[in-house]
Amino acid sequence: MKTYKIAAIPADGIGPEVIAAGLQALEALARRDGGFRLDVTKFDWGSARYKKTGALMPEDGTEQLKAFDAIFFGAVGAPDVPDHVTLWGLRLPICQGFDQYANVRPTKILPGISSPLAGVKTGDLDWVIVRENSEGEYSGHGGRAHKGLPEEVGTEVSIFTRVGVTRIMRYAFALAQARPRKFLTVVTKSNAQRFGMVMWDEIAAEVATEFPDVKWDKMLVDAMTVRMVRAPRSLDTIVATNLHADILSDLAGALAGSLGVAPTGNIDPERRFPSMFEPIHGSAFDITGKGIANPVATFWTAAQMLEHLGEKDAADRLMRSVENVCASGIMTPDVNGTATTQQVTDAVCEAIRSEN
Ligand code: NAI
Ligand code: MG
Repeated sequence: MKTYKIAAIPADGIGPEVIAAGLQALEALARRDGGFRLDVTKFDWGSARYKKTGALMPEDGTEQLKAFDAIFFGAVGAPDVPDHVTLWGLRLPICQGFDQYANVRPTKILPGISSPLAGVKTGDLDWVIVRENSEGEYSGHGGRAHKGLPEEVGTEVSIFTRVGVTRIMRYAFALAQARPRKFLTVVTKSNAQRFGMVMWDEIAAEVATEFPDVKWDKMLVDAMTVRMVRAPRSLDTIVATNLHADILSDLAGALAGSLGVAPTGNIDPERRFPSMFEPIHGSAFDITGKGIANPVATFWTAAQMLEHLGEKDAADRLMRSVENVCASGIMTPDVNGTATTQQVTDAVCEAIRSEN
């Protein structure tokens, strides 16, 4: 029997609540399937550790993670620690250290969940956003001079490399090719940003010639927000820079009903390092400890993780179970339900056990 070594990093806020839910569902799947086992190691990294020791994770943190097949991550961020400290102290070192350059964010309207867009139903919005996850606007390149003085200056430099853009473009075209509509939208801002973004457009056209059966078009990111809202059916697979896709995928999550249902995979397509799977949402201080965090984003990302590990049948079973539970109306308050995290989780586990 195959055993997968999973590193669970629940971290902050509702992270521990949704990761506990996700692990319960994964356990139910492994038991039901019988073909694989999960060997889960939990790490207590996060803001509490930072407050005690001054670091969110140990210095050899990424070294420790190398031994795992995948990383299952909750959320990081605390009200009393600056967000750039938490993000750069835990999540980004893992993404960048493991060169997880493809951030894959599927969005669809699950049954029983209503979109804030009038007249848009399940099936009308079915996208995958591919976010460049290793460079661009989040390269960490920049600095501040004359700190605190009136003439202070801050720079935040975007880095776009031919290698980085080509590999994410290939990933996105291949993903589009694997989906029924074989259609990719390339997002940039190549009117106002005339260097890196123009290079994106050029590389997209070059890579497109390798995928003659994929149709593709281009959008400027500002116009893209309009198209997502006004014409959701006109989109399928989308590729954008680190910053642009960060913003577009939050919008996508909201259009699909809630951030609480939006998953993401930080993937090293070359499989040199473990990939990391997490809900898109953050620590959600406003609902932490209330037992009402929506676990669906975490179930969905657990399905992404299983698929990445090669357990497609189990991944499909998990998503069918989640969709059936949503359709039956067992949902948390963010999607107009009255159920708790635990009630949704128990219902999903029951659906996993009893499915034919
Ligand atoms: P957030 O995603 O934590 O919350 C935004 C809103 O969505 C809140 O009203 C929250 O209650 C709701 N929400 C989020 N997830 C939900 C769920 N599973 N079920 C029901 N409702 C849910 O974003 P916010 O407030 O901007 O950030 C809070 C903290 O999280 C900050 O410290 C931020 O830096 C951090 N953060 C961390 C991320 C990560 O670890 N990947 C991603 C985004 C934010
Ligand atoms: Mg974001």
